[in-house]
Amino acid sequence: MHYKSNDAAGSDSRGQSPEQMLRIIFDYTAKIANERSLISVLLHMANMGREMILADRCTVWLIDHIREELFTTVAHGVDEIRIPLGTGFVGHSVTTGEPLLVEDAYSDPRHNAENDQRTGYRTKSIITVPFVGNDGSIIGAYQAINKMDEQAIFTSIDLEHLTLAASYAGKSLESVMLHEEIAATQREIIFAMGEIGESRSKETGNHVKRVAEYSYILALGYGLSVEEAEQLKMVSPMHDIGKVAIPDAVLHKPGKLTEEEFELMKQHTITGYNLLKSSGRELMKMASIVAYEHHEKWDGTGYPRGLNGEDIHLYGRITAIADVFDALGSDRVYKKAWELDRILKLFEEERGRHFDPHLVDIFLQQFPKLLTIRQNYRDIE
Ligand SMILES: [Fe+2]
Ligand SMILES: [Fe+2]
Repeated sequence: MHYKSNDAAGSDSRGQSPEQMLRIIFDYTAKIANERSLISVLLHMANMGREMILADRCTVWLIDHIREELFTTVAHGVDEIRIPLGTGFVGHSVTTGEPLLVEDAYSDPRHNAENDQRTGYRTKSIITVPFVGNDGSIIGAYQAINKMDEQAIFTSIDLEHLTLAASYAGKSLESVMLHEEIAATQREIIFAMGEIGESRSKETGNHVKRVAEYSYILALGYGLSVEEAEQLKMVSPMHDIGKVAIPDAVLHKPGKLTEEEFELMKQHTITGYNLLKSSGRELMKMASIVAYEHHEKWDGTGYPRGLNGEDIHLYGRITAIADVFDALGSDRVYKKAWELDRILKLFEEERGRHFDPHLVDIFLQQFPKLLTIRQNYRDIE
C-alpha cells in the first residue's frame, strides 16, 4: 500500500507523485486486462481507485437494469450489496452521468447516514465518477470515501484522477460484463437444448441430469480444473441432441433394431455434431465433441468414426462412461435396470475395450460418489 506521502518518489503531502500514479495505472490496467472474472475486475478497479487518490474506501457500483438497482461486491466471497438505482451520491452520478465531489457528506441532503449509523464508520468526503460504455451509456460508477489524510477531504485533483481511473478501466469492465452476459446466454440455450433432446429421446426422467453429474465427477477425478469440469457438466446433457432427427418408430421401438434402423440410429451422433459444430463458442464446441464422440469405443469398434484410444476426445470418453453407467442402471423400454455387481463386472470387462482403462479406474474410485448422485437424481415412478 502507498499511503505514506513523503517517500523517495517525491509525492507531496496530498497525493501520489506522477511516477507513482503511472505505476499504479500501469500495474492495474495490465492486471485488469488479463482478468475474465467480473468480481476480480471490480476488486482490481476498486483497489486502483483507492491507491490513485489515497482514499480510505473505494467501491465500484454496477447497474442492474432489470431490478433497477445498483450493486457492488466488496470482497471475494462476500455477498453483493444492493441499493435502489437513484439513491445516494452514486445514484446521482449514474442517473445524471455527472461526477460528484462532496467535501462534507453530512451537509448534503443526498447523504444516507443509515450505513454510518449501522457500522460506526464516519463518512466525511465523497467522490463519485460514472463509467461510460462504448455506446455512451452509463454502466456504473466509482465511489471513493474519505481521503487518507488529516482533513479526510478530497480535492478537484482527486476527482480528476479518479475520472482517469474510470476511463482506463471502464472499457475492460464493459468487455468483461459482455463476456459474462454471453456466457450466461450460452448456458441458458444449452440447457434448453438438452431438455429438448431429453424429451425427444424419451430417456428415463433424470437421465441427462445424472449423466451431467457423473461426467463432472469423472472429469474432476481425471484432474481437470473445476472450471473445465463444470463446462463439461453443462454440455454433456446435449450428447443425444441429434435424436431430434430420428423417427419415432425407430427411437421408441421396443424390440431389437434391424441393421438399417441401427444405421439410422447411429446418425444421431453426426446430426448432433453438425447442429453444434459451426458455433465458434467454447461451450458449443465442447458440446459438439460430446455429441460426436460419446459412442466411440477405446478399442476402435465404436461409431460413427471408429476412433481409437486417445484419438477419442477426453470429453467423449468421459461421457461414454457416464452415459452407459446410467443406461445400465435404469429401466428402458427394452430392458430392466441391471444390478450393481453386474454393472461393475461389465465395466471391469470393458476396461480397455469399450472404455478408457484409466477412466474406468477413476470410475471405480469415485463409485460411492456416483451412487450418491444416482440416489439424489433417481427417477420417480
Ligand atoms: Fe447417444
Ligand atoms: Fe444418453
